[in-house]
Amino acid sequence: MTSTDPQATGSTTATGAPAPSDRNSLTIGSNGPILLHDHHFIDQMAHFNREKVPERQPHAKGGGAFGTLEVTEDVSQYTKASLFQKGAKTESLVRFSTVALEAGSTDTVRDPRGFAMKFYTDEGNYDLVGNNTPIFFIRDAIKFPHFIRSQKRLAGSHLRSADMQWDFWTLNPETAHQVTWLMGDRGIPRSWRNQDGFGSHTYQWVNANGEKFWVKYHFKTQQGIETLTNDEAAQLRAEDPDYHIRDLYENIEKGNFPTWSVEVQVMPYEDAASYRFNPFDLTKVWPHADYPRIKVGTWTLNRNPDNYFAQIEQAAFSPSNRVPGIGFSPDKMLLGRVFAYSDAQRNRIGTNFHQLPVNRPKVPVDTYMFDGAMAYDHSGSQPTYAPNSKGRAYSDGPGDSEEAWAVDGELLRAAYSLHSEDSDFVQPNTLYTKVFDDGARDRLHHTVAGALGTVTDAVYKRAIEYWTNVAPDAGSAIDALVKGTK
Ligand code: HEM
Repeated sequence: MTSTDPQATGSTTATGAPAPSDRNSLTIGSNGPILLHDHHFIDQMAHFNREKVPERQPHAKGGGAFGTLEVTEDVSQYTKASLFQKGAKTESLVRFSTVALEAGSTDTVRDPRGFAMKFYTDEGNYDLVGNNTPIFFIRDAIKFPHFIRSQKRLAGSHLRSADMQWDFWTLNPETAHQVTWLMGDRGIPRSWRNQDGFGSHTYQWVNANGEKFWVKYHFKTQQGIETLTNDEAAQLRAEDPDYHIRDLYENIEKGNFPTWSVEVQVMPYEDAASYRFNPFDLTKVWPHADYPRIKVGTWTLNRNPDNYFAQIEQAAFSPSNRVPGIGFSPDKMLLGRVFAYSDAQRNRIGTNFHQLPVNRPKVPVDTYMFDGAMAYDHSGSQPTYAPNSKGRAYSDGPGDSEEAWAVDGELLRAAYSLHSEDSDFVQPNTLYTKVFDDGARDRLHHTVAGALGTVTDAVYKRAIEYWTNVAPDAGSAIDALVKGTK
């Protein structure tokens, strides 16, 4: 045997001593009981029982890869963020996912796809946690837990339920744009490589002179948009539940690196107040005729993870992770999300999740957060309080008021005030009548009719009204299909 023979070198215990045996437990006689002092065996069993972390709630099923953002254009007039300066190259991580179902579920379902990106910049980590759709179902974060539960499983039977999904959607008409998008051809991407990514929300960019702009991010796939029909997707669900994970992994292994063109729409800060609809409403897109896309650079995935659990399952993305020159906006969904993710990750991964290699920034960290379970980084005997006169740095400036906006008003609970053209149905109508062609409209009718086949009468009635509000033709075509097949 040579020293590279695994049986010659052997494995070790967690504390580095030679492991006695990975084949046999310690027993009294070859048929006898196992002994409590077989610590190697007990340790293996006990650790195995703790091997999983809670899965994400939502976006449990997914996969990811590492890549590089390369800025090819000068957008310094809009942002001072160093990752977006011409010539900058920034290592990044992405995780793609489905939203509603569990970690073991199948990839080719009709569902938005998560498109979570982490950029390890020289000013700290910047996370852009988006989807493959430019819009979302709701516009106030307080509805989010209700929305997610309506897409999951019934409390009693633990079955999924079209009735529950359509009950929620039709009682919340602001869902119509995202639901029209989802029931359309792009509702099931052929692969993660064949889909666009969107920041979805409106964010703020600030340039070196302190001038503010509102931006929306677009990552345009250079592989071309490709989608699956309902039949293709159903067949793949049976044949290969991990179809999308496999596609990304195998293409990157082959050196066939997927690329996206990185583009932004930019709105001058002052335009927002008087724009014809609320530019912070996550159920709306900004028409390109009003704000054309501006090229920023390219983003390429070029490296598979070495270990799925360490680098993808334990990855922690959050819209709160931002860098100077990039801010939030008055979008109530975004502001809700800024709280939600780190809180989820303290629970899901552990208090010190930010210290794990995949989550730590490439720049030094000097934070006044200490200790907690599994603390690895520490600051020795330096003061743990600020201000201090002992020489440890602390931040004493006015805070990040640059990435901010003016607000004035009473504390109250209310929907957004309406702009002149705000409506839940105008943009879904445009998508249905102007973006979709006859074939796409017909496929949408069949998809919706199929989904409505099992819903209760009251929900069905509201669903037909909902689609009639999107477009009278949609309502009548879906109704005819369901009645013809019921
Ligand atoms: C108020 C609304 C929302 C709340 C409260 C919320 C909350 C969450 C939470 C708690 C997670 C799990 C995080 C983790 O365990 O690491 C998650 C995952 C995710 N969310 Fe949201 N979410 C909201 C809306 C959105 C929207 C609008 C988008 C896209 C534009 C989005 C995209 C994602 C993605 C991509 C993931 C998966 C991240 C990953 O791959 O680790 N979410 N969300």
